[in-house]
Amino acid sequence: MIWLASIQQTAGGMPVLILKEGAKENKGREAQKNNFNAAKLVSEIIRSSLGPRGMDKMLVDSLGDVTITNDGATILKEIDVQHPAAKMMVEVAKSVDNEVGDGTSSSVIFAGSLLEKAEQLISKDVHPSAIVDGYTAAAEQSLTILNKIAIKVDVSDRDTLIKIAKTSMDSKLVSDESPILSEIVVDATTQVSEKNPNIDGLKVDLDNIKVEKKAGGSMRDTSLIRGIVLDKEVVHAGMPKRIENAKIALLNSPLEIEKTEMSAEIRINDPSQMHMFLDEENRMLKTMVDKIQSIGANVVLCQKGMDDIAQHYLSKSGILAVRRVKESDMFKLSKATDARLVNNLDDLSESDLGTATLVEERKVETDKWVFIEGCKNPKAVTILIRGGSQRVVDEADRSLHDALMVMKDVLEKPSIVAGGGSPESYIANELRQWSGNLEGRAQLAVEKFADALEVIPLTLAENAGMDPIDTMTELRTKQGKGAKWTGIDVKATSVSDMYERNVLEPTAIKEQIIKSATETACMLLRIDDVIAANKSKMPPGPPGGGMGGMGGMGGMGGMGGMGGMDMD
Ligand SMILES: Nc1ncnc2c1ncn2[C@@H]1O[C@H](COP(=O)(O)OP(=O)(O)OP(=O)(O)O)[C@@H](O)[C@H]1O
Ligand SMILES: [Mg+2]
Repeated sequence: MIWLASIQQTAGGMPVLILKEGAKENKGREAQKNNFNAAKLVSEIIRSSLGPRGMDKMLVDSLGDVTITNDGATILKEIDVQHPAAKMMVEVAKSVDNEVGDGTSSSVIFAGSLLEKAEQLISKDVHPSAIVDGYTAAAEQSLTILNKIAIKVDVSDRDTLIKIAKTSMDSKLVSDESPILSEIVVDATTQVSEKNPNIDGLKVDLDNIKVEKKAGGSMRDTSLIRGIVLDKEVVHAGMPKRIENAKIALLNSPLEIEKTEMSAEIRINDPSQMHMFLDEENRMLKTMVDKIQSIGANVVLCQKGMDDIAQHYLSKSGILAVRRVKESDMFKLSKATDARLVNNLDDLSESDLGTATLVEERKVETDKWVFIEGCKNPKAVTILIRGGSQRVVDEADRSLHDALMVMKDVLEKPSIVAGGGSPESYIANELRQWSGNLEGRAQLAVEKFADALEVIPLTLAENAGMDPIDTMTELRTKQGKGAKWTGIDVKATSVSDMYERNVLEPTAIKEQIIKSATETACMLLRIDDVIAANKSKMPPGPPGGGMGGMGGMGGMGGMGGMGGMDMD
């Protein structure tokens, strides 16, 4: 959707207006500079939050809601940037977040660094397309080098998996509790993982992990439930609140007499007819409950409504029931308890029932929730996050999301590298040697790419308060001697072997960081003209009279949003 604004050109001395009045155009070096500056500013904002020693950001939205986080993707989502180039940086974080879940800060910082180095080359009159070619080649070579040093992991090696999950959480607010949380994350993901015949890894669908959160208690009370937690109460006060060895029926159909769709009318002239009518309804509901009881179910979880009379009969039969369970929860319940979702009560049979060692209504702070737990080999589980305040549970939720994605990444592609900037530093070293085979400008661009990669260890060191020059020199020296896992141990503030420090990360994340950051940097490098429409004051919708002869472009009134591009 490009709305050509006011490019003015002169043809034979006559100004030719082809763009709308008030539009701005930025060309050549100036356009590039503006874009680079905006993108670098975004990466500058994120820089201080990288790594375990990174700082958090407190973000206040227009309604005054506060979010405290150091998750790159969340920060960028909340700050609502306006500049088009800055928006592209936000896109990097988003794409990395969607693909691999972690590494969003690194990708933005790396993209910013690539642009900074490119600027240095442009100022020496290297054409941006030569830089783009060099960067693309360097990125490809980096992926090859990365996969060469990557280590295969055994997906059943729980200890290693825990170390990987812990690394992801160590750079977050939840780091103090990461030993407990990483076990939860590993157990949850391995529990729901399935064999994948096509690849050597497993298949993990994170939709099968329900994450519930409730402020209160401490983060240590966060737990993994081998089953599902429903934020609903037992429907009737007379029903049991605890059932051991539960036999669970999952109903998609309502336990009530369905009303007709059309407006029907029943004429009753005699009180006895009224009685008969009600009795019949009663009888139908009782038959439904009898059916459930006859096949031995003692828990009914229903997606639809439940008539008062049906509730009464269920409670008399000692059956625990919950109504209006969300559809997504019904699927999870089916996977967790191995029950079949039944659409028609007549079809319900004993073999459709699921099992759980315990179904119980419990109080979680002020709410009553139903826990379906102790399922045998559940293929869906729940993580119940607790924490001192709403902000803490929210940030714990985001960190767990990162860690769950990290686990999915390794289980699906069981390959890891050490962290702490060691792979970046190793690749930079190798790239510099490789660039020797290249010619001219491509070589310069590859060298700059290598320098840009080193922004990761450099930022980790800076955030840990280490001396940047001394640290990077020591890192390069050790790397030069072939110690490939040498990186920045930010906890001990030393340059050490990160593999031995158990700082481990999935290769998939490092790959995604390199790919996404390079693509965005190259895209920005290719831009030499920015044309932005004037900020429209018209509300979206049909144009006012002001459009005059351009009335044919009616819908353009809605482009007002683009006017927000502030290019300065
Ligand atoms: N104990 C540690 N010592 C040194 N570096 C570490 C340690 N733990 C993690 N890191 C490094 O910190 C970096 C990750 O930091 P962080 O989690 O803040 O950012 P990210 O993963 O890039 O983005 P996101 O905001 O999405 O988490 C990685 O390079 C990782 O290797
Ligand atoms: Mg991270």
